[in-house]
Amino acid sequence: MNNNDYIIRPETPNDYRCVEEMAREAFWNLSVPGCSEHYFIHVLRKHPAFIPELDFVLESDGEILGCVMYSRSELMDDEGNGKTVLTMGPLCVRPGHQRKGIGKRLLEHTFALAKDIGYDVVINFGNPDNYVARGYKSCKRYNITFRDFGSFPAALLVKELIPGALDGRHWRYFQNDADAPCEDEEAVEKYDALFPKKEKAWQPSQEEFYIHSHSELTW
Ligand SMILES: CC(C)(COP(=O)(O)OP(=O)(O)OC[C@H]1O[C@@H](n2cnc3c(N)ncnc32)[C@H](O)[C@@H]1OP(=O)(O)O)[C@@H](O)C(=O)NCCC(=O)NCCS
Repeated sequence: MNNNDYIIRPETPNDYRCVEEMAREAFWNLSVPGCSEHYFIHVLRKHPAFIPELDFVLESDGEILGCVMYSRSELMDDEGNGKTVLTMGPLCVRPGHQRKGIGKRLLEHTFALAKDIGYDVVINFGNPDNYVARGYKSCKRYNITFRDFGSFPAALLVKELIPGALDGRHWRYFQNDADAPCEDEEAVEKYDALFPKKEKAWQPSQEEFYIHSHSELTW
């Protein structure tokens, strides 16, 4: 894909259904049988932590091929000082168009914009393979732990948009609760029923997800 073949533009309400369908296709059976990301996007857009200025799609020939969204979360140091950071996600690319640089373009576009509007740190859980080339590092590099636990989840990844923004202090990460409704399986199923029927199944990426999401870096 070269630079004239696509545009990156803000998501509009007319895109909502198409973006949710794409997310459902991209995440289906990836981490668990089925997925909840289309419902997550639906609830995230209405959550107070959601950042509409960083809600973007990549479009090519009139077709949406990828999307990225962000919300606000908090870090807190040991003295109780807070710092607002970005939580990135969902990020997804339409199956059939993955591994062609679309995710990379969406992230680089929105990182630059996020920096312009005053954010200096991005955090998300994810498979490190997808993020280390974008400059993400393990949370352990920045001394960021998850709530009260002195552990460094392997999947908790941190990107400084401004080098030195995290200055070596010990930080705890308090992710916003925008994804809490996704724990309500009945609500997820009800929303999923508005989409074409898809079979839930096991696939090996679910074990990969299990390994990443249950792994920690130790001291
Ligand atoms: C993960 C996802 C968003 C990445 O977007 P993409 O457009 O497919 O990825 P890109 O082509 O931009 O590549 C991004 C990076 O992934 C890595 N990558 C690319 N192709 C790869 C491959 N075949 N194998 C392993 N890593 C690869 C590289 O590090 C690459 O960066 P680089 O080109 O600077 O080296 C996309 O594949 C997707 O939607 N997957 C399903 C949903 C998902 O997993 N979302 C993320 C949730 S954490």
